[in-house]
Amino acid sequence: MLEAKLSYGIIRYLDSGRGQPLLLVHGFPLDHSMWHNQLEPLSKSFRLIVPDLAGFGQSTRTQPIVSLKTFADELIELLDYLQVKQVNFCGLSMGGYIGWQFWKYYPERLNRLIACNTRAAPDDETVVRTRRISAEGVRSDGISKLAEGMLGRLFAAGNLERLNSEVQGIRESMLRANPETVAQSLEAMAIREDATKWLSQIDKPTLFVAGADDVITPLTELRENAALVPGAVLVELSQAGHLSPLENPLAFNRAIETFLA
Ligand code: MLT
Repeated sequence: MLEAKLSYGIIRYLDSGRGQPLLLVHGFPLDHSMWHNQLEPLSKSFRLIVPDLAGFGQSTRTQPIVSLKTFADELIELLDYLQVKQVNFCGLSMGGYIGWQFWKYYPERLNRLIACNTRAAPDDETVVRTRRISAEGVRSDGISKLAEGMLGRLFAAGNLERLNSEVQGIRESMLRANPETVAQSLEAMAIREDATKWLSQIDKPTLFVAGADDVITPLTELRENAALVPGAVLVELSQAGHLSPLENPLAFNRAIETFLA
């Protein structure tokens, strides 16, 4: 991986391929490796920029996470470092929450938006409470309990066995995350703004990608969100849970190529 020493940590990232820049932003509490089925095929048509967000994977973090906007600010610093003016932003789940922030605060840096397995609505009170308890648990006991609890819900039920090595890879990526970053990310997600009110104002071409068997961000919610964004396209992937790029890569990559063509 490449390395950039930025104001908020040492950021490790991949930068490969030629064409329009396509920034791939991983979900919580994962890292760039969740995109490994995109790297070779999509780098034929795009310049892929695939970071580990600070404190995840192999990137370090020296600054606190104030809100989800912190991640958008940090991605802008990475793009400035790379001298990339505008990107197609593709984020999965928490990466998608960061995508709403990117659109809101840095519209001039955004070409097209791809929101995968994500939602615009904020957390309800029950989820906020659970996040706070999980944050304390991660601070005191580390990330393994959270990781095991999440793992079964990330993949479509039928994929847990079929994609055994991918499941193992995702488990390992979660264990690489820094516990304090994980705790602060949970707290930042718990206070995130309601992006639903922004959807009708999104004036960038937007693609939603949903997994038919996603239990974390259900298809029905993505359909409702996509219906609010003027001209948005929704692609529903079969045989996919919350990690649609990993679980159904052929259909996922085709959706991205068609949308960005
Ligand atoms: C993710 O995959 O990024 C998380 O499931 C997002 C969340 O916890 O809301």
